[in-house]
Amino acid sequence: MSYYLTTPIYYVNSTPHIGHAYTTIAADILVRHHRQRGEETFFLTGVDEHAASVARVAAEQGLEPQEYADRIAPVWRDLPRRLNASIDFFIRTSDEDHKAFVQDFLQRIYDHGDIYQDVYAGLYCVGCEAFKTEAELVDGKCQQHDREPEWIEEKNYFFRLSAYQGRLLELYESRPDFVLPAFRANEARSFIAGGLQDFSISRASQTWGIPIPWDPDHVTYVWVDALVNYLSALTYAPGGDPRLWPARHLLAKDILRFHCVYWPALLLAGGYDVPRQLFVHGYLNLDDRKISKSLGNVIDPLDLIEEYGVDALRFWSARSVSFGQDGNVSLDSFRERYERELGNDLGNLLSRTTAMIARYRNGELTTLAGAGGELAEHAAALHSDVPAALDRYDITGALETIWEYVRALNRHVEQTKPWELAKDEATADELEKALYELADGLRNAAIALWAYVPETAERILEALGQPADPAWERLTYGATEAAAGIEPAEPLFPRIDATATA
Ligand code: MSP
Repeated sequence: MSYYLTTPIYYVNSTPHIGHAYTTIAADILVRHHRQRGEETFFLTGVDEHAASVARVAAEQGLEPQEYADRIAPVWRDLPRRLNASIDFFIRTSDEDHKAFVQDFLQRIYDHGDIYQDVYAGLYCVGCEAFKTEAELVDGKCQQHDREPEWIEEKNYFFRLSAYQGRLLELYESRPDFVLPAFRANEARSFIAGGLQDFSISRASQTWGIPIPWDPDHVTYVWVDALVNYLSALTYAPGGDPRLWPARHLLAKDILRFHCVYWPALLLAGGYDVPRQLFVHGYLNLDDRKISKSLGNVIDPLDLIEEYGVDALRFWSARSVSFGQDGNVSLDSFRERYERELGNDLGNLLSRTTAMIARYRNGELTTLAGAGGELAEHAAALHSDVPAALDRYDITGALETIWEYVRALNRHVEQTKPWELAKDEATADELEKALYELADGLRNAAIALWAYVPETAERILEALGQPADPAWERLTYGATEAAAGIEPAEPLFPRIDATATA
């Protein structure tokens, strides 16, 4: 079974902020988890270059759009690398192979009879790259971008979206989990049920974009160009394979309509299968406003990585907001979780456990015979509950399940009190068991956490003298191997002086 997951391809009109990092991290958690389960995975991300706003920013800087895009693309390419996101390919919509594929895709729809020419006039928001109706505006402005749309009037090629209403409704009817969470599927379905208007897939007034194959005086509407990346990449990415289609798409609610309505219709028109599934997550907000460049309230993920390390950012992304919902975030809560959860719950547990093994057992860990009690049951529950939650894209819920286990291990230390057991030779066996179970619990926690905090998980396994293999089947009670030379581990998440960084 293969697991092909995508993130949106981000606009290069500015640099990445924490909202972009958020989706990429969530996607990486899912992909890594499926890899742990032994599945073949393919993880695609990249950039969307042919937006009018990109041409504008380039002009402001006195550059040709392509020149500008070439300069900024490396910054975006660096984002997954810095996030430790294990991507298979980074697509740019200016890739020649992508452009050729888009032209072929459009030609198929044209040949299928779903494209016609018409004049269109309307209000256009450059931020959304979409026409707006009066009803969608507040005080004449696009809410999302806080700016007035522009009047555009031109002869365009139109896609017969209206012809797909019935098939789309059937799709939503027959596949209740086509779009998740369910309330997002309802949103898409009611939009479709409300009636679909054909939309223009070309722009005559622009030159920045992919030429329409049968009429090169027009360029392709950026959204059609961009959506097709999910298919085109499979035809030329190293390791890509068209048979990986259909994909699972991850995106935020801002681009629900394009993905959940336009995209399946375009695919049907082109003779392709619709996506396997779409998961639509919410917004990270600061002071109740979406974090976005156009609103000017951005947090740079690279700053947080520099200060706290990439795993702290990955952990927080999964934990701070229930994945799927909107949520307010703050740097204070970031710090607080770093100290309390990563530093104390997890970091201290490893420090204490390794220090006790070093001190009371001369750094040696011996395997135990016999079945375990509560911790064995808990590990078995972890083994099945985490995949079940992640199959529902419940990244936050799965992490909470893992954290309950980490808390249980902390309670286990307090209950077994190895430091007391160490005082009396008569309780040597009990001490051995208590320390083994702690090490074993930490090893299981590390495997469960690997998808979230891969570097940390590997450090834990190494500190306990265990193989660096995160295969899910190894998450089981009592699979910890005998080891020697265990030393007190360095703190996983050292304290950071808040006054120095404020
Ligand atoms: N280029 C289009 C997408 C084309 S996909 C075929 C685009 N780009 S974007 O740069 O604006 O990125 C939007 C996406 O970035 C969102 O759907 C979401 O994945 C992510 N986010 C940007 N800001 C975000 C938040 N404040 N909160 C959560 N996700 C955010 O749209």
